[in-house]
Amino acid sequence: MEIPVHIAIIMDGNGRWAKAHGLARNVGHARGSKNVEKVCEMAWHMGVKYLTVYAFSTENWSRPQAEVEALMKLLRNYMKSSIKKAQKNNMKIRVIGDISILSEDLQTSILTLIDATKQNTGLNFTIAINYGSRDEMTRAMKKIAVDCLEQKLQVADIDEATIASYLDTEELPDPDLLIRTSGELRLSNYLLWQLAYTEFYFTDVYWPEFGETELRAAIARYNQQERRYGKVVLSEGDR
Ligand code: IPE
Ligand code: IPE
Ligand code: MG
Repeated sequence: MEIPVHIAIIMDGNGRWAKAHGLARNVGHARGSKNVEKVCEMAWHMGVKYLTVYAFSTENWSRPQAEVEALMKLLRNYMKSSIKKAQKNNMKIRVIGDISILSEDLQTSILTLIDATKQNTGLNFTIAINYGSRDEMTRAMKKIAVDCLEQKLQVADIDEATIASYLDTEELPDPDLLIRTSGELRLSNYLLWQLAYTEFYFTDVYWPEFGETELRAAIARYNQQERRYGKVVLSEGDR
């Protein structure tokens, strides 16, 4: 089996998982956050090099304040508790999204975790926090405009590679496989530029229950796809 180099995941369905079990939504988020660690280890053992997960979108601020606070608390805990584990597993952690509006202490723990793991050579694990593709592209376009005004960049030299290099994902290859859990068939503002030729896999399983069986099923399905990139792949007998 060919293992995708980069898998992106929209971890969805924490709330519905909790509801189905008669629990509060925040319990679902706590379970979902635990599951992230398991999936990281699983993916790495299967040979995945890059894993990028959607933890909090630019639109998620419009949830009830108590839920937003609970999600921020989980992120805070994750940043602190995963330093040791990331070192043990040799994970290199990155964050995409605009973290400048997060609380100071959360920003500090994010930067500490990134810095502490930057030399690691294992799984490249990227967490999207206050991430929205349109926001990312807007920020990139502003930076490009400033660099043009300051003559660091010539308009004629702007190509697709230039644009990619101004995005938060500058250091990452484009995802080969996108997985969204919980049965929703949409992108919800995730990696719109980067997913141009990615294979999609949707499963009804809620994120807290997404495990090895589902990851293997997603990769097996990925292996059945023919990635044509707009070309025609001729086989014998075709005219
Ligand atoms: C995904 O689970 C986690 C975040 C968006 C932070 P949801 O909270 O969206 O769960 P559902 O979709 O309401 O079930
Ligand atoms: C997308 O899930 C964002 C994350 C998983 C962090 P949502 O649950 O917020 O997306 P919608 O609202 O169903 O589109
Ligand atoms: Mg959701």
